[in-house]
Amino acid sequence: MATMESLIGLVNRIQRACTALGDYGGDEQAFSSLWDALPSVAVVGGQSSGKSSVLESIVGRDFLPRGSGIVTRRPLVLQLQQTEEGEQEYAEFGHLPQRRFTDFSLVRKEIQDETDRVTGKTKQISPVPIHLSIYSPNVVNLTLIDLPGLTKVAVEGQPESIVQDIENMVQSYVEKPNCIILAISPANQDIATSDAIKLAREVDPSGERTFGVLTKLDLMDKGTNALDVLEGRSYRLQRPWVGIVNRSQADINKNVDMMAARQKEREYFATSPDYSHLASKMGSEYLAKLLSRHLESVIRARIPSITSLINKSIDELESELGHLGRPIAVDAGAQLYTILELCRAFDRIFKEHLDGGRPGGDR
Ligand code: GDP
Ligand code: NA
Ligand code: MG
Repeated sequence: MATMESLIGLVNRIQRACTALGDYGGDEQAFSSLWDALPSVAVVGGQSSGKSSVLESIVGRDFLPRGSGIVTRRPLVLQLQQTEEGEQEYAEFGHLPQRRFTDFSLVRKEIQDETDRVTGKTKQISPVPIHLSIYSPNVVNLTLIDLPGLTKVAVEGQPESIVQDIENMVQSYVEKPNCIILAISPANQDIATSDAIKLAREVDPSGERTFGVLTKLDLMDKGTNALDVLEGRSYRLQRPWVGIVNRSQADINKNVDMMAARQKEREYFATSPDYSHLASKMGSEYLAKLLSRHLESVIRARIPSITSLINKSIDELESELGHLGRPIAVDAGAQLYTILELCRAFDRIFKEHLDGGRPGGDR
């Protein structure tokens, strides 16, 4: 038998199929509940807390738009797919399925352009997600959703309502019980004032699905450290806190590449008098592995409910196809038919995973 596809990879394909159906504009009821049932990781935090930096470290690539103000204005659904050692790294957008990006500066530009296409170059935000898949030997299998940063004041050119609009959009993701929250807080601010923790506390009071990430450890005042937070004494979560040292603005200006940054981060923890005893559980590489393992186990636990939703969707698709009648709506019918086939395949593969799939389908 061929190697069983990774669970995270499978879920990624269902998410893309759901999106395709959404675009087609059919009856997406069954699909929005299916989408909601699929676990993913949402990145939340205040503006400049280090969200983009954490995502880029996890991917090991520079590819996100940056700048001051509200840079992320549409959700970015980022699907990471690990490929064989030595294979060419590339990226693909949901809205440009025929094009493979190997130049990541063009990925950045396309995210900007595609954001503007929907928000019309204003500083408005839109809840319509951008889908980006990255295929690389250097990533772990993981789906992350980058969201606009929480902010307290609108800047010039933005409507007053933007503060609340962003909060509502972020809320709509993190309130779903299947959403894993990656809550980013900077270490050089009091954790009691963290936007990410405030929001996570509202939707996940027990801290069961929140991973706390503390960035900017290198920017803390001399003579202070973040051990109270990292060791869970300041704010208790059921998952471990992970400390991170991203590239500083000066590093970015000097074009310090991501691999060098990862190395520097490893050295920081290994040699830090405060954190060396935690070194093996700190840093962006550790965070990526931790999240991938967690996501895989959550998906595994949800297989029964996912397959029952898939079966419901299959029923709806079959009846919708019945109503359509092939000759009148060939395109729509073909789309639905493709998705139906995909659903049947998923149902089969999930069942294989459930009864006797080897543990940890991921490499
Ligand atoms: P975002 O707005 O939450 O996406 O934040 P960014 O990732 O864009 O980071 C904002 C600024 O903080 C950038 O200039 C980063 O270089 C800097 N930064 C982020 N994380 C760290 C860190 O761990 N250490 C240092 N020194 N700077 C950081
Ligand atoms: Na920013
Ligand atoms: Mg950002």
